[in-house]
Amino acid sequence: MSVRAIVLAAGKGTRMKSALPKVMHEICGRPMLWYTLRALREAGVDEIVVVTNREVEPSLAALGVHGVLQEPQLGTGHAVQVGLAALTASSGTIVVAYGDMPLVDAAIFRNVIGGIADGAALALLTARMPLPSNFGRVVRRGGGVAKIVEVRDASPDELLLDEMNAGIYAYDETKLRAVIVDLRADNAQKEFYLTDTVELMLSRGDRVVPIVASDYRFVLGINDRVELASARTILNARLCESHMRAGVTIVDPATTYLEPDLAIGADTIVFPNTTIGGETAIGSGARIGPNTRIVWSQIGDGVRITESVVSETTIGAKTTVGPFAHLRAGNDVGAGVHIGNFVELKKTTMRAGAKAGHLTYLGDTTVGERANIGAGTITCNYDGKRKHRTAIGADAFVGSNSSLVAPITIGDGATTGAGAVVIRDVSPGERVVGNPARVLPMKP
Ligand code: UD1
Ligand code: MG
Repeated sequence: MSVRAIVLAAGKGTRMKSALPKVMHEICGRPMLWYTLRALREAGVDEIVVVTNREVEPSLAALGVHGVLQEPQLGTGHAVQVGLAALTASSGTIVVAYGDMPLVDAAIFRNVIGGIADGAALALLTARMPLPSNFGRVVRRGGGVAKIVEVRDASPDELLLDEMNAGIYAYDETKLRAVIVDLRADNAQKEFYLTDTVELMLSRGDRVVPIVASDYRFVLGINDRVELASARTILNARLCESHMRAGVTIVDPATTYLEPDLAIGADTIVFPNTTIGGETAIGSGARIGPNTRIVWSQIGDGVRITESVVSETTIGAKTTVGPFAHLRAGNDVGAGVHIGNFVELKKTTMRAGAKAGHLTYLGDTTVGERANIGAGTITCNYDGKRKHRTAIGADAFVGSNSSLVAPITIGDGATTGAGAVVIRDVSPGERVVGNPARVLPMKP
């Protein structure tokens, strides 16, 4: 039997006070809505339609879902009507979820979906939480759910109820379609409430099953930036915990900032104030941080990176980076390389055993095996209009403060003297000095 989902994300999210729609605000590197979609997919949902507005809609393709516009927005019940109209009728299960609940995981969705397995019309997630709160209250009768009442419509007695409607539902689609047309906007907000489906179903003799969440904190919807920050803390702690359980030492989870799609090998140690993001993979036995940011990179076994920024870069085993290095996009750094302080790399390949220890810029460059790049070396890769390449051969020795004016090739085993301004190719084994650099006679 198919399980499909309607995710509601057409609301304005006014309390975020933002030009960005609420569900697109990021938590641990992904939009809030991404988490709901991932949890639904993990729970086995086959098809998802997002009820959306014009601000959110352009972002949906990148999230791999299609949206349907709800204009105007007449309430959660109306939003589900719009979602149902976009789905061809079938007799499976329809999950309804709100797009602003990033802490809900697949297990919660599975529980709610399982709640109607025995023929109930609706299973809905509830949670007991401290009062007062702004959530809809679950009114029970004889153990079962009698109705859900919104705070603005609740009586003083109902406001004292501490069981709230979390906003996750699994419906028998046929039974949902039978009642959704009967919703009325006769309430304080003059909206069509999805929650009124409870009473409508009960009056037809259908069954409604409450599923009580074990921890209310994980089912809270996010409404403002304070709640956004709390959710981030919880999600980040979960990410750290899963890596620690898999053998990674995280010295201080509170100041280690992770994203969902990372691979980190066992016995790697992550030191404080470190951010690891994108689809980064780090090998085993590496030492990362402190004060380091790595995104979209592949880092080998036993690599050490300290106080540095690394993006879109591949680094081979046992290489050392930093402190204070900046590896910008497009580098391929081999094994056993040393990149020291105040070294910047861009679109540069450094082969195994090469060294650039101090104060160097290497852009659009290939550095051969074991070559040594002296302190202060600059590849002059930009002529004001175009970028040019520099090739430095294996075992070359580039003297301190050399300027290599690209395009240029420094041959295998060649040497440049301190302060050389090299404007012509240097042959293998040749030595050049001065400004502009001239060839020195070969040693006898
Ligand atoms: C809703 C529930 C309430 C529950 C709470 C949990 C109803 C009537 N009430 O209240 O019982 O405790 O969520 O967080 O459902 N949306 C649309 N189109 C609309 C209106 C809303 O897509 O026309 C979306 C919003 O973007 C949001 C979600 O539906 O993601 C919930 O809407 P919101 O206005 O926040 O409902 P609550 O008042 O929080
Ligand atoms: Mg809400």
